Amino acid sequence: MMKLNPFRLFARKKRRVSHYVKSELLTADSPFIITEAYKAMRTNLMFMLSGNNKKVIAFTSGLANEGKTTTCLNLGIAFGQTGHKILIIDMDMRKPRLHRYFDVPSAPGLSDFLGGFSSEIPIAQTAFENVSVLPVGTIPPSPPELLMSKTFDSLLEKIRDEFDYVFIDTPPIHLVTDLAIIANKLDGVVFIVRENSITLEVVKESIKSLEHVNAKVLGFILNDSEGSSPFAQYKYRRRYKGQYGYAYGYSLPSQE
Ligand SMILES: Nc1ncnc2c1ncn2[C@@H]1O[C@H](COP(=O)(O)OP(=O)(O)OP(=O)(O)O)[C@@H](O)[C@H]1O
Ligand SMILES: [Mg+2]
Repeated sequence: MMKLNPFRLFARKKRRVSHYVKSELLTADSPFIITEAYKAMRTNLMFMLSGNNKKVIAFTSGLANEGKTTTCLNLGIAFGQTGHKILIIDMDMRKPRLHRYFDVPSAPGLSDFLGGFSSEIPIAQTAFENVSVLPVGTIPPSPPELLMSKTFDSLLEKIRDEFDYVFIDTPPIHLVTDLAIIANKLDGVVFIVRENSITLEVVKESIKSLEHVNAKVLGFILNDSEGSSPFAQYKYRRRYKGQYGYAYGYSLPSQE
C-alpha cells in the first residue's frame, strides 16, 4: 500500500494557494487588458454608486461557475487601489472561497458574528492595499436563518460607517436563495453572466426573482465573452476579449 507523506500533502496545499493568488488575483503583474477591464468596470460602478451613501453591493449570477467570486474580489482590489477602504464579505456558505484567495482563516467570520458567537466583526486584513475581508465563518446548518436575523442589520450599520465600499460574494441566485433574503437591504446587485454557461431563460428568471424581493439590479457583467453569444445583442459600454474577456453594460435582457 502507498504511504502518504504528510510533508507532500502540505506542499500540495501550499502550491494550490499560490496558484490561486498568482493566476486569478489582480496584481501589478496582471496583463494590461485585464487591469484595464477592471478599471473600466470600477469607473462605471463608482459612478452608479455615487451619492446617497450607496456602497453595499452584492455580486451574483444565475448558475455556478460564472465568475462571481473572481469578479467580486478583483473589483475589490481595483477599488482599493484608488485609496478607498474596501470590505469584501464571503456570503457564499455553499462554496466559500475568499479566505483561500486572501490566505486568511475561514473562521471566525460572518456566520460567527451573525450567530452571536463573536462580539466583534471578525474582519481580517489582506495583503492588498485598503482591502479587508470578512470570511465566511463556521458554516451553519441553516444559513437562511442566520441571514434573517436582526444581527445582519446591525452588521450593515457598522460596516457602512467603517468602509467606503462593501462587496458581497454570494451563491448563484437560481440555485440558492440566500441573497434574496437580504437583497432589499443592499444598495444594489451586480449580475454576472458567463458566456455559453447559462440560457437567457434562466437569466430572466433570476432577474425576476431579484426584482421580486425589491433588489436593485445595477446591471450585468458579461464574463469570458467572445462577443458572439445572444447576450452580445445587449448594449455594452465596453467589451474586452482575451482569456479574461469582460463585457458589461447596464441594459437588462429585453422582455420579449
Ligand atoms: N473570464 C474568465 N476567463 C477564464 N477563467 C475564468 C474567467 N472567469 C472566471 N474564471 C474561472 O472560472 C472558475 C469559476 O470562477 P468563480 O469561482 O469566480 O465563479 P463563481 O461564479 O464564483 O462560482 P461559484 O458559483 O461556484 O461560486 C474559476 O476557476 C475562475 O478562475
Ligand atoms: Mg463563487
